[in-house]
Order: sequence, then C-alpha cells, then structure tokens
Amino acid sequence: MPKESIIRTSVFEYNDIKACPSDIQQLMDKAVIAREKAYTPYSQFKVGAAIRLENGKIVTGSNQENASYPSGLCAERTAIFYTGAQYPDQKIKSIAITATGTDKENTEPVPPCGACRQAIAEYEQKQKSPIAVYFMGKSGQVKMVKSLLSLLPLAFSEQYLK
Ligand code: THU
Repeated sequence: MPKESIIRTSVFEYNDIKACPSDIQQLMDKAVIAREKAYTPYSQFKVGAAIRLENGKIVTGSNQENASYPSGLCAERTAIFYTGAQYPDQKIKSIAITATGTDKENTEPVPPCGACRQAIAEYEQKQKSPIAVYFMGKSGQVKMVKSLLSLLPLAFSEQYLK
C-alpha cells in the first residue's frame, strides 16, 4: 500500500462582507467597482479584483475577454500582473475578489480559477510572505484564506526548476 499523507487547509468564512475588518470592506468595495468595468461580451460573467500593497496603495483589475476566447484574461491576473509591472518592489498584503453573472447572480463566494491561483502563488514565493485572499459572489458571504497556498496545496514553483 502506498503511504497516504493528509493535507490540511484552512478556509475562513464571514457571513457578510460587513463582518470583515474595515480595510477588507474597503478593498472589496474597490473590487466591486472594478467588477463593473469588466469587458465580458462573451460570458456575461463579471469579475473584479483589488490588491492592497504594503504601502497602502490599491491596484484593481477586471476580466477582459476577446473574440479569440483564450486571449482574454481573468480579473485576478490582470490586477496582479499590473501590480508586478508597476510596483515590483512592493509586497502584496491581500487580494479581494468578487464575481457574478449578469443573468445568473452568484450569491456564494466564487473562488479564483486554477491559473490565477498559480499566478498569485508566484508572487507569494517572490515576496516570501503570504498573500491573504478574500472572495465573494455578487455580495454577502465572504471566504478567506490567509495564504494562497491554502487554495493550492502541492503548488508547482521555481524550486523544481533549479
Ligand atoms: N474569470 C476570472 O476573471 N477569474 C476567475 O478566477 C475565473 C474566471 C473570468 C474569465 C472569463 O472572462 C469569465 O470569468 C468566464 O470564465
């Protein structure tokens, strides 16, 4: 029999965004505003992300779609790549994400996709400190992990490259 390892991960829940710390409420408000700017003619599914840096600055992004579908990009990566490009020396403290369909309203928290988890994990590795991830649907309930790695156990990283 192969040896089994159990991997534990912690996800925290707030029944409502109003129960989150005030700086997170403020960050999520920015994510909601960013969500409204999403360009989604194909999916009608709007996602907003807001990133808080160590210096207090907030960077936002939304999903940007394309007629050549794979050329589009998720909100989280739009925001984090812009952050990496504009503020390469600033540590990222947290990211707030909100997502909802325009036809179907998402009431439950919508977690980031696998590709975005991988992208956020890269910046955790780079800055050597955890990034808290908060995610919500259209409004209401919020889920949170204290580190991206709680959403991506056994993450691939640069340690395997060299
Ligand atoms: N999307 C995001 O922006 N973030 C995610 O984590 C999941 C999916 C976008 C991509 C596409 O524009 C739409 O949502 C439907 O997949």
